[in-house]
Amino acid sequence: MKIAMVGSGYVGLVSGACFADFGHDVVCIDKDQSKIDRLHEGVMPIYEPGLDALVESNVKAGRLSFTTSLAEGIKDAAAIFIAVGTPSRRGDGHADLSFVYAVAEEVGESLANDAVVVTKSTVPVGTGDEVERILKDSGTTHKFSVVSNPEFLREGAAIGDFKHPDRIVIGAEDDFGRDVMHEVYRPLFLNESPILFTERRTSELIKYAANAFLATKITFINEMADLCEKVGANVQDVSRGIGMDNRIGSKFLHAGPGYGGSCFPKDTLALLKTAEDYDSPTRIVEAVVKTNESRKRAMGRKVLDALGGAENARGKKAALLGLTFKPNTDDMRDSPAIAVAQTLTDAGVIVSAYDPEGMEIAKPLMPDVTMCDNPYTAIEGADVVTIVTEWDAFRALDLNRVKELVAAPVMIDLRNIYNPEDMRSAGFTYASIGRN
Ligand code: UGA
Repeated sequence: MKIAMVGSGYVGLVSGACFADFGHDVVCIDKDQSKIDRLHEGVMPIYEPGLDALVESNVKAGRLSFTTSLAEGIKDAAAIFIAVGTPSRRGDGHADLSFVYAVAEEVGESLANDAVVVTKSTVPVGTGDEVERILKDSGTTHKFSVVSNPEFLREGAAIGDFKHPDRIVIGAEDDFGRDVMHEVYRPLFLNESPILFTERRTSELIKYAANAFLATKITFINEMADLCEKVGANVQDVSRGIGMDNRIGSKFLHAGPGYGGSCFPKDTLALLKTAEDYDSPTRIVEAVVKTNESRKRAMGRKVLDALGGAENARGKKAALLGLTFKPNTDDMRDSPAIAVAQTLTDAGVIVSAYDPEGMEIAKPLMPDVTMCDNPYTAIEGADVVTIVTEWDAFRALDLNRVKELVAAPVMIDLRNIYNPEDMRSAGFTYASIGRN
């Protein structure tokens, strides 16, 4: 089956490469000529473990190709995926759908055969209806069906998530849409990955409900962590203790500095906007958004406290280990590290940092922070070392070397990757999240 993937960013490229790996004939399309040129040279536009090898092997096998021409790319495709960005619109948080609608218009003008048009971009309820209207208005004479097929990929684990999904959600309104999507996902269906067919609007909402629920789970455990610190309990044991209840589940119960990334912050805001538009308030999600935002700044204050408070911190040195919103990505979007660095530099603290992949993107976001080549250079002379992102590289630091290099052996571990007992016996003043 021929599949066209319009948009060769994170979602489009990972999905396109994985579909090709299943044996489909995939064309990834993008307007950005330099991105397509680089893909032809085997250079990935994003950092995602395993993606370069997957792209290379499928290009070699002749199943994956790239083009800037939408008309050429969608020719003969049975399924045309729209996988372009839906960033938060300035001002009201609503998802900006201009890229999605522009693609729909171009698809309508260029359609040369019957096809199913699939929104893979995260889009608010009703977007599929609008895409359908645009295609109808284009006057195309070919049969088409508009389907919703949200993605549930985690950055850093996207290929595994695509190939072994918990579920595939497909929102289709007719048999043509359902049949073609069944064929698209047949290789996974054979692996017994559950496929849930729903109406289109339901499928669109499932994506937002899933992300909002996960963001809620994280925010809940973060608040429990704060309470643990006050009452002298251990949040990791609380997570285990509640997570063993199958009704709750153990995943997404790691307390930390607050969620970031390209999805949870944007999608929770977009859900709030939809809820407002339909006069159906989602107060829990409202609270989650506010709580998470203030948490990121609170993490900066936690570091300041270790320096004797904001009034005593000026001129002191802080090192940040990890800047990206999570490990195994170079994505800095809404990373808690931004708020932490800002709080520190605002208080006159001299900040140095190291991140295995994110420093180039981080630089303009935190211009007053000195980026270093490795963790040990970053911590030289530091009065406090803060682990912001749990990269594997920080899990086994040479603690003796750290102690020799810092000005004071004070560590704040915002991801709970070290054992408090071990750190204290190694001679560190150590603070983590919810485990005092
Ligand atoms: C998230 C969802 O997990 C994916 O299912 C979804 O497809 C994706 O958004 C999307 O909508 O595209 P992602 O943003 O890549 O994926 O990252 P997550 O692994 O979900 O982490 C999000 C944030 O939550 C990170 O800042 C992470 O550090 C934080 N987090 C996660 C915690 O603080 N605690 C946890 O227990 C889990």
